[in-house]
Amino acid sequence: MTLFLRRVLLAVVAAAVACQALITEEELAEKAAQGLRLIDFEEGVEPVWMTEDEKLELIRSDKNFFDVTETYDPLEGESFTLFRAGQVAYSPPSRRADVTPLIAKISLSNMQGYLANLTNFHNRYYRSATGAAASVWIRDTVQQIATSYPTSRATVSLFAHSFVQSSIIAKIPGKNPAAPIVVLGAHMDSINSRDTSGRAPGADDDGSGSVNLLEAFRVLVTSGFQPEGPVEFHWYAGEEAGLLGSQAIARDYKSRNVELKGMLQLDMTAYVRPGSTEVISLMPDFTNSNLTSFIGALVDNYSRLNWAINNPCGYACSDHASWDRQGYPAALPFEGTYPSNSNGVIHSASDTITVSGFSWDHTLEYTKLAVAYAYELGFQ
Ligand SMILES: *[C@@H]1O[C@H](CO)[C@@H](O)[C@H](O)[C@H]1NC(C)=O
Ligand SMILES: *[C@@H]1O[C@H](CO)[C@@H](O)[C@H](O)[C@H]1NC(C)=O
Ligand SMILES: *[C@@H]1O[C@H](CO)[C@@H](O)[C@H](O)[C@H]1NC(C)=O
Ligand SMILES: [Zn+2]
Repeated sequence: MTLFLRRVLLAVVAAAVACQALITEEELAEKAAQGLRLIDFEEGVEPVWMTEDEKLELIRSDKNFFDVTETYDPLEGESFTLFRAGQVAYSPPSRRADVTPLIAKISLSNMQGYLANLTNFHNRYYRSATGAAASVWIRDTVQQIATSYPTSRATVSLFAHSFVQSSIIAKIPGKNPAAPIVVLGAHMDSINSRDTSGRAPGADDDGSGSVNLLEAFRVLVTSGFQPEGPVEFHWYAGEEAGLLGSQAIARDYKSRNVELKGMLQLDMTAYVRPGSTEVISLMPDFTNSNLTSFIGALVDNYSRLNWAINNPCGYACSDHASWDRQGYPAALPFEGTYPSNSNGVIHSASDTITVSGFSWDHTLEYTKLAVAYAYELGFQ
């Protein structure tokens, strides 16, 4: 083939690919009605259609993705939905005198009680009745804390999705309701990737982060915390199925032009690989570097542990990615070095508190971090 002919052929192929690239509203509706899912593996690359079984196969092989079936915008296409987090700056931590006594109120036995409740659900799969019940349990638990301290004016609501498990949003109002909000997130769902109707206690993934948030919320609300700007606690549904809950919420906030000071995601905070050095490991990719440095400063000030910059966890590895994708600054302090020192039994019946390496002392540090983050950023 001559070079010229090859060039022409390549140009024709490229044009054909470009024409196919955007998924139309008709295609979206038709394929979704057939039960297919639109899966996004890579930034700036058009997503692909897959069956539920193919999607489960991805989860089994630890491949991360966004399921954008319900968030893809045919008018924008893939490339236009991506904004990179804007320029944000944070002041160094400055409220040790207020935060230190709050941290002293964190109760490990409360955290243990909360996690016992969460792991008692057969699983917290986003399409199961027990997954829906776990969501209601979180809502009720948060509601009880809020109503026992009415002066906090804290509220809690369900954020409903197209599946039975709802995300939960708890709000502590700010003195200035119009100020940008501070968000803390974790995912409530768990999965047994071999058998989605099977047992999935999800103690570490992500019972640990869910409990960090519950206890941080309790400590702040019951201490009369009244931040300058609103502080929100999010427990996301359907994270394991392609960041479904967080995508819907981040998109909703973006579409309403809600401003965020930062989004702190806690996903897997309880495992320390036996023999490894305990560390709070800060994810470097799809996060904001300034917010990540701020989290490092919080660790310096409020934790007994050191922090380190982690290896990249890749595309769509947890709910922070949903916020980063919408242009919001996010951070992810992880339980250890990824992937070598992260918990190897997640997504199975074995993700329990009896796993060798499961550490209450370790996950306690992330509750401290959550309290310090909410307080320090709540006044910036
Ligand atoms: C980080 O903060 C500095 C100012 O301290 C600012 O110039 C820079 O753009 C910020 N970077 C990001 C990624 O927000
Ligand atoms: C569930 O959590 C509550 C605190 O909200 C605790 O009192 C109770 O003991 C827990 N249940 C279990 C089975 O641990
Ligand atoms: C607390 O954080 C500030 C700001 O990063 C830092 O200058 C200070 O050294 C930290 N304090 C401790 C005890 O680490
Ligand atoms: Zn997780």
